[in-house]
Amino acid sequence: MTLSDVSKPGVATPRTETAESQQPCVTPPVKLRHLALPGDVETAASWYANPEVLYFSEGAKVPPFSKHRIENMYRWLSEKGTVYIIEVFEGKWVPVGDAALCKDLIPIVIGDNRYRNRGIGSRVLELLIEDAITLGWNTLIAHKVFSYNTPSIKLFEKYGFIRTFVGVDENGEMFFRYEKSLH
Ligand SMILES: CC(C)(COP(=O)(O)OP(=O)(O)OC[C@H]1O[C@@H](n2cnc3c(N)ncnc32)[C@H](O)[C@@H]1OP(=O)(O)O)[C@@H](O)C(=O)NCCC(=O)NCCS
Repeated sequence: MTLSDVSKPGVATPRTETAESQQPCVTPPVKLRHLALPGDVETAASWYANPEVLYFSEGAKVPPFSKHRIENMYRWLSEKGTVYIIEVFEGKWVPVGDAALCKDLIPIVIGDNRYRNRGIGSRVLELLIEDAITLGWNTLIAHKVFSYNTPSIKLFEKYGFIRTFVGVDENGEMFFRYEKSLH
C-alpha cells in the first residue's frame, strides 16, 4: 500500500472562474485509489472517447480507444508502475480520471471536461510527487507533453519540472520532455 491509498483531501484552493470553464471555483477533495481491472475499463471508456483527452494526451486525429485498448494500456502501465483512478468528493467519491506513477512517465488524465482547470490535476501531481519521494525515487519524468498542451505545461512547470528535451514525433508534432529532481 502506498500513501495514495489513503484519502488525502485536496486543499480547498480558491480558483479563478473563467468564462471558458464556468465551473465551481474551489478544488474538491481529491484521492487516488488503485486501479481495479477489469471493472475500471468501463469507468474509463468515456474518458478515452473524449476528443479533448485524445487530442491533448495522444495527438491529433486519434480515434476513440476501444475497451480492449484501454485494458491493454492499463495492463502495460501496471507492469511499469502503479496506476490510479482519480476520484473527487462531491457528496460521494466520483471517478474523474486516471494517473500513473512510473519511473519514466507520469500520465495524468482528467477524463471529464467539467473537472479540468479546477486544481484537480495539481493535487494529483502533488500526491504523485509525495509517493515518489516516499519510495525514495530521485527523479520524475513526464516523457511526452505536446507543445500545444498549455494546461499540462503549466502544471509541470508549476511543480518545478524542467524541460529537458524537445522533439518532433512521427506525426510531425512538437513535444517536450520534463524532469523533476526530487532532492
Ligand atoms: C493536463 C491536466 C491533467 C491538468 O489538470 P487540471 O486539473 O486541468 O489542471 P489544474 O486545474 O490543476 O491547473 C494546472 C495549471 O494549468 C492551468 N490551466 C488549466 N487549464 C487551463 C486551460 N484550459 N488553459 C490555460 N491554462 C490552464 C491552470 O491555471 C494551472 O496553472 P496555475 O496554477 O499556474 O494557474 C488536464 O487538463 C487534463 O487531463 N487534460 C487532458 C489530458 C492531458 O492533457 N493529459 C496530460 C498529458 S501530458
